[in-house]
Amino acid sequence: MNRIRRVGVVGCGVMGAGLAEVCARAGLDVLVAVSRPGRVAAGRERLVRSLDTAARKGKLAEADREAALRRVSFTADLRDFADRQFVIEAGPERESVKLDVFATLDKVVEDEQAVLGSNTSSFPIIQLGRVTDRPGKVIGTHFFNPVTVLPLVELVGSVLTEEETATTAEAFVTGVLGKQVVRTKDRSGFVVNALLIPYLLSAIRMYESGMASLADIDKAMKLGCAHPMGPFGLIDLIGLDIVEAISESLYGEYREQHYSPPPLLARMVSAGLLGKKSGRGFYDYAPAAGTTMKAAA
Ligand code: 3HC
Repeated sequence: MNRIRRVGVVGCGVMGAGLAEVCARAGLDVLVAVSRPGRVAAGRERLVRSLDTAARKGKLAEADREAALRRVSFTADLRDFADRQFVIEAGPERESVKLDVFATLDKVVEDEQAVLGSNTSSFPIIQLGRVTDRPGKVIGTHFFNPVTVLPLVELVGSVLTEEETATTAEAFVTGVLGKQVVRTKDRSGFVVNALLIPYLLSAIRMYESGMASLADIDKAMKLGCAHPMGPFGLIDLIGLDIVEAISESLYGEYREQHYSPPPLLARMVSAGLLGKKSGRGFYDYAPAAGTTMKAAA
């Protein structure tokens, strides 16, 4: 039987909130760390909104919704993670933040067997391991957005990750969270993003070349390839800043042109047009734009 009952999630953005929800719905005690006390309300609201959606769509009974909410608590102090048995870091894709978080987790998490996971989509796992005295316990646990819906977790062991850590993490995400796992090496992009990101970047280059409109490129991939979303809808869902960060990481590792971020992507990120989470990306999600997405770029 799995011994993990107390989980810590670092960050309560799109992915952190999704992770907290999936863990709470699996019956675990979840402690979510936000960057400062003022961020608790926004984090909780994100969680409540997603639980409400699940209840509305008939995926969650009202009583289970309440129970899940009761299992989640918040803190702005990572020292409260002392008793956690499995931690998933889902903070911003910024090197200094991630290194700080792992160095702190190493000091505060008391259980030497605890797994320290990261949901990073672009940062080498070995670098996170190296700022701790327990690199064997550090592993990439890469979930997909929306976490509540998509079944995959990429498990990414660094050259120092112990096999026991990978086995424990795999048993936890499959047996307790009900996800499915693929194991991948600690290389930029892992499996999914190494294939997905060049496709998304190609769509931006195609749009910049004037070959077709945003809406038609999305329509083509939905109707022609049965993708649930077109590339621009998907970039907006992932977040333009995240796509840029992964692109830079892939380009930094492989120096291949098709991984390099197109200028339009960089300009939009500079302008704060980050996609759905900021209200506007390639499409406009502002209430005034109506219920359907309106091309904004
Ligand atoms: N809890 C449980 N289930 C939920 C839910 C929730 N909070 N919210 C929605 N669902 C369920 C719905 O009930 C529905 O299930 P059903 O088909 O059994 O009825 C299903 O999820 C789809 O939801 P909706 O009907 O509301 O919405 P759509 O049909 O429009 O689908 C989508 C939306 C799930 C986002 C779909 O378009 C999709 O899968 N898109 C692709 C997303 C994708 O590729 N993500 C990966 C991004 S890459 C990544 O994350 C890696 C990172 O490193 C970049």
